[in-house]
Formats: sequence, C-alpha cells, structure tokens
Amino acid sequence: MQDKLKHLESLRAQARLGGGEKRIEAQHAKGKLTARERIDYLLDEGSFVEMDMLVKHRSSDFGLDKQRFPGDGVVTGYGEIDGRLVFVFSQDFTVFGGSLSETHAEKIIKIMDQAMKVGAPVIGLNDSGGARIQEGVVSLGGYAEIFLRNTLASGVIPQISAIMGPCAGGAVYSPAITDFTLMVQDTSYMFVTGPNVVKTVTHEEVTSEALGGASTHGSKSGVNHLTCASDIECLQRIRQMVAYMPSNNLDDPPRIPNDDPANRVIDALDTIVPENPNQPYDMKEVIELTVDKNSFFEIQPDYARNIIIGFARFNGYSVGIVANQPAHLAGVLDIDGSVKGARFVRFCDAFNIPLVVFEDVPGFLPGTAQEWGGIIKNGAKLLYAFAEATVPKMTVITRKAYGGAYDVMNSKHIRADMNFAWPSAEIAVMGPKGAAEIIFRKEIASAEDPAAMLAQKEKEYRDKFANPYLAAERGYIDEVIEPRFTRVRIIQSLHLLQNKTQSNPPKKHGNIPL
Ligand code: HXC
Repeated sequence: MQDKLKHLESLRAQARLGGGEKRIEAQHAKGKLTARERIDYLLDEGSFVEMDMLVKHRSSDFGLDKQRFPGDGVVTGYGEIDGRLVFVFSQDFTVFGGSLSETHAEKIIKIMDQAMKVGAPVIGLNDSGGARIQEGVVSLGGYAEIFLRNTLASGVIPQISAIMGPCAGGAVYSPAITDFTLMVQDTSYMFVTGPNVVKTVTHEEVTSEALGGASTHGSKSGVNHLTCASDIECLQRIRQMVAYMPSNNLDDPPRIPNDDPANRVIDALDTIVPENPNQPYDMKEVIELTVDKNSFFEIQPDYARNIIIGFARFNGYSVGIVANQPAHLAGVLDIDGSVKGARFVRFCDAFNIPLVVFEDVPGFLPGTAQEWGGIIKNGAKLLYAFAEATVPKMTVITRKAYGGAYDVMNSKHIRADMNFAWPSAEIAVMGPKGAAEIIFRKEIASAEDPAAMLAQKEKEYRDKFANPYLAAERGYIDEVIEPRFTRVRIIQSLHLLQNKTQSNPPKKHGNIPL
C-alpha cells in the first residue's frame, strides 16, 4: 500500500508542476501568478478541492502523444469564499499556453454542470492561447459546449470571468456571456482577431494592448467591468464582488451587518445640489454618503461615466445602485450608458438584489451619432430592464427628471415601489428653456425684446413645472423628502419590501430590443 500511496503522491506532484519549473518562472517573470497560486488567493485558505487533477489529453497528432501533462492545462474544482461554496477553473498557461483541448473543455464543463446542480457561482480564471491548434474542430466543439452552459447558467448562478492573460478568437465569448469580466492591467488582452489579422484586413496598425487591453475594454468597449492592477488585486476584487450576490437565483444575497447606523441623518445632502440647475455635482458623493460606509462597489467606472452602477449595502443588505452622473455629460442618457445600466439592472433582478436609483437626468443625448447608432433601441433596453424587474425598486430624484428619461429611470409607472424626490427635483417634459422656446415661440418672436420675453417665459415654466410637487400631487412621487433623510427612507423601504412578490406574465422569454 505504501508504494501505491507514494505513486499517487508522485502523480499529484507532477500535476502540481504544470508545464514545469522553467515555464512557471516565465509566468512569474511576466508578473503573472500560476493557475494554482491564483486559486489560493481567490479562495478561503485550505478550502480548495481539486477535481480531475490527473486528466490527460487523448490527442496524438503533431507529436502531442509525447507531451501529456496531468491536468491538461486547467485546474478545476470547488472551494469557499467567506465560507460560501464556489466553483472555479483556472487555466494554466504553462501547459500548451493554457490552450483548450477536448479534455480541458470537459473539465470546465464538469464543474459548470456541478455548479448548476448545487446552485453555486462559477468563477473562471482565463489565461489561454485559445483553441488547442493541434486538435482542430474537437477544440471548437469544446468551446461551444462551454458557451452553451454559460448561456443556460445565465440568470441561474452568478458567473464571473477574470482575464489574466491572453483571451482571443471565439474564446472571448465565454467571458462575454458571463455576468462580470475583470481584466488585469498590462498582462491581459481580449480580441476576436489579433493585430496581425487586423493589419491584413483593415490596414490598421495597432498593438495588442491598444486593441484589447484592460484600459481599452474598460473605457471604450465596456467589455471589461473592472480593471485591476495585478493578479492579486483582481482575485481580491472577485472575493468582494461575490459577497454582494446570492449563490443562485433562488437564494437571497447574504446580509453582512456593519456598524453604520440605519437611522444616520446626512446633513451634507441638504446642500449638495447647487442652486444653479446647470451646475454639476458628483453623484458618487451622494451615493457614498448614503450607503453603508465604504460599501459602494462600483462596476464599469471608466465606461459611460454619465451613468453609475455598482453594488452597495444598506443596513447590511445588498442592493444594486443605478445613478445618473451630472458631473459627466450632465448625466444624459446615451447608447453606452443605457446598455451599461440595462445589463446591471437585469443581473440584479435575476439574483434578487433590490435596485436603488438616484436620478438627475436631463434627457436622452441628441444628435446623428446617437440616432444612427440606435439610441431608440438601446435606450429601450434600459426601459425594458427596469420595467420587467420585479425585485424591490426605489428611486430618489435629486434634481432633473426630464422627458422620456423620467419614465425610463425606474418611474412609478413601470412598477417602482418607492419613489422619493428631493425638493430640488424638476420633473417635466423638458427643461424650462427648451419648453419656453417651443410653446411661446410666437410671443417670443413678436416681442420687442425677444431675449427678455424668453427669460420671462422660461421663468414661468420653471416656476410651474421645475419642481416635484405636480408629480407628488398625482402620487407619481410617494414622498418629497429632506435629502438628509434619504438613507433612513431607503432603509425603511427595503425593510417594507423585504417580502415583496411580483411576477410577470408566463412566457418562454421576452424579446428585449437588441
Ligand atoms: C496549442 C499553444 C497555443 C494554442 C500557445 N501555445 N497557444 N499550443 N494551441 N492555441 C503554446 C505555444 O506553442 C508554446 O509552446 C506555449 O504555448 C507558450 O506560447 P508562447 O507563444 O511561447 O507564449 P507567448 O509568447 O506568451 O504568446 C502567447 C500567445 C501565442 C500570444 C497566446 O502563443 C499565440 O499567439 N498563440 C496562438 C493563439 C491562437 O491563434 N489561438 C487560436 C485562436 S482561435 P512551446 O512548447 O513552444 O513553448 C481560437 C478559436 C476559438 O481560439 C474558437 C471558439 C469558438
């Protein structure tokens, strides 16, 4: 027996070495951790249980039969984050560049199927040269099997992808289907076709970093939800993120109590909105002041900055925040902002995370770029997402709520549960100047002093409509509140709505405008 135990240990030791010392050194030299080191940082100490450690590929083409590494380029298994079960796969770049073979895919598929059976999140740590080129279509089939499971698991268990090295070709579509993608600065990139193909086809000269690095996807495409400075930071951020989520769509997110009083009054909010309605202020400050101290976890901070999304806690309860940012493009809704908001709203709704909206929106962004880019169908995504959501929904209008954007931003009419407005709220079809120019056009044109007439009419419109009281008279706003009581009111509402149940008509699925 002793010999047999020794043999088992030697097989395991071989698997732990991956592609060998030299390749591990090369991985470290690039500033990257190995697949196993990453798992150690991701999971609670000692909680990882590895599966399929001894799996080897079955291919013999192109000399592969002479290179058979136990584990076949991916470490898979399960473990815990803050004592909660998660499944993980971590691609090992030291074995065939982490490329995906038939068996490598089978290992990932196995943990995805297990995770679905028991209702636990899947975290994928991606570091791979893509399809194992020597295996051809078998590898492509493996990818497709993963994509299918990503799709079936969507909305059932949270799925998080970290990009910690290359992720190219069709391989990018697995992270793209998952709920959140994090990228490591300087060492990761994602693209469908790399710089060489780009040069051949479009004659553009571009580096991998510029084409698909963390900054590019964090600010230009929105594919990257969070840029991290290092592997370790990335893994810590995943741990923090998971704490806001339930394990599956039938669970509630965990409550994590803290010492921030539920009845904290925030005097600073009473003066945060400037007297001049055209002057910006930072909505992030409103959020940070209102939520449990240091609980705001922003997502996509560098993309479509006119809308802010992220997780936070109120009295220890997890919520999803969606807010207009008057400090960027006046908080206007555009294509990118609408899509950013919509996907997050749908995540929260799928996973029983209540939504809290802070609203200061002058409307949708005008212009040919927006119209030709499809602001109609893209703006509709945000509307659709809020309208279909059945989780507890709250809105606080801090200042502007104009036009269609008023309806879209979680209005009472699309089933928001608690709608509050600050006395500084302006709720109307459009801003006073635009409104006066249209409805008093003739008077203004025929006036002796058109500018003075416009100013007078603008004031008339402002006095009548640029306030929350007409909406409050109709019950579209449940209460006009002193800003300093915003936290108290939100926590009261969350408490009130704790057992909310609401459902949508039975259907196979809706047809969100894509
Ligand atoms: C097999 C691969 C591989 C792959 C890398 N390797 N990618 N083996 N299949 N896809 C091997 C290399 O041959 C090398 O082995 C080792 O991994 C390390 O790779 P290096 O090139 O030395 O590393 P580096 O210089 O860091 O470059 C990494 C890389 C490069 C940029 C990822 O390896 C590369 O361009 N690989 C090919 C990428 C690719 O075209 N993949 C297919 C994409 S299409 P040795 O033994 O020499 O050290 C695709 C379709 C998916 O994935 C479709 C899904 C629907």
